[in-house]
Amino acid sequence: MRVLVTGGAGYIGSHTLLELMAQGHEVCVLDNYSNATPQVLTRVRALSNGELGDVTGDVRDASTLDNLMQDFRPDAVIHFAGLKAVGESARKPLAYYDVNISGTLALLNAMSRAGCNKIVFSSSATVYGEPRYLPYDETHPTNPMSVYGRTKLMAEQILTDWAAADAPRGAVLLRYFNPVGAHASGDLGEDPRDIPNNLMPFIAQVAVGKRDALAVFGDDYDTPDGTGLRDYIHVVDLARAHVAALDYAQRHTGARPFNIGTGQNYSVFDMVKAFERASGRKIPTQVTSRRPGDVAAMLADASRANAEMGWQATHDLNDMAASTWAWQSKNPDGYGADS
Ligand SMILES: NC(=O)c1ccc[n+]([C@@H]2O[C@H](COP(=O)([O-])OP(=O)(O)OC[C@H]3O[C@@H](n4cnc5c(N)ncnc54)[C@H](O)[C@@H]3O)[C@@H](O)[C@H]2O)c1
Repeated sequence: MRVLVTGGAGYIGSHTLLELMAQGHEVCVLDNYSNATPQVLTRVRALSNGELGDVTGDVRDASTLDNLMQDFRPDAVIHFAGLKAVGESARKPLAYYDVNISGTLALLNAMSRAGCNKIVFSSSATVYGEPRYLPYDETHPTNPMSVYGRTKLMAEQILTDWAAADAPRGAVLLRYFNPVGAHASGDLGEDPRDIPNNLMPFIAQVAVGKRDALAVFGDDYDTPDGTGLRDYIHVVDLARAHVAALDYAQRHTGARPFNIGTGQNYSVFDMVKAFERASGRKIPTQVTSRRPGDVAAMLADASRANAEMGWQATHDLNDMAASTWAWQSKNPDGYGADS
């Protein structure tokens, strides 16, 4: 299948490219490198030994999209391109609505003009908000607690209406839980440009001495050790969920959400201990106040993805920690070292 991957040079996109190419898909990336470097694609090409098309451009740009649709003629699109920091989204709401909503609209318009009917979308478990029960299943009410989460929910609604409007269309909405880990080679991984928003990159940067201590946001939650519980999903498992979703989209019409998690959750201190085991280094921690909008616990019921797409996570906590360490120790400055 020919697959257009928006935001393909990013953290999750780059791992997905490898899985797509391994399955024989023809792939083209559209990225504006606002949060990535072209070096990522050089590494993907080296790891895959394969052909990979790429176009530098913005997903909101109709003429770039029309040219791509005409030249590459994708059978399907995987739409990663977007802004993703919850805290930043409160400070820059319009930027988030612009990239995440206008970007999705521009892409769907271009797909409609070109007759491309299938899309897999990067959604997020943040669409659920405060849990009414756990684990969340896909019928749990949605009530996002951040601007970022609202952009994801709105994009889901737009995709659902788009898919309903014309019979052959299909949209698979993947609600990721907490992506972590890296490619086992240590050549691809998460490379935050600023202070990491996510736990694992922060821990990894402490381990290599780039930061003094891990900030733990609250140890007074109603959880066994007082820190937040999250359902961490290995990025390679997540990448494979996209391959399964493409196959699902070929066989189905309409829009359907799927949770992508492991069904097991870990605390901040569990993650620290796993990383200490993997790296052999001590991770100093410093407890600070809770972050607004954080919930005590999140957990996925991912049985729908298993039953309907045949997808299941296979990597455990040790794989998550070991691969993160492989990436961070091999690339202490991320892609910066060779970009
Ligand atoms: N990483 C997570 O924790 C997480 C969790 C849930 C959902 N998601 C979603 O998954 C997707 C990918 O996340 P990621 O962690 O790989 O993020 P990322 O920032 O590493 O990747 C996003 C990519 O999109 C590109 N991009 C951004 N705006 C663009 C635009 N206007 N035009 C073209 N390219 C653009 C960036 O340069 C980057 O390469 C995002 O939509 C994100 O919201 C991520």
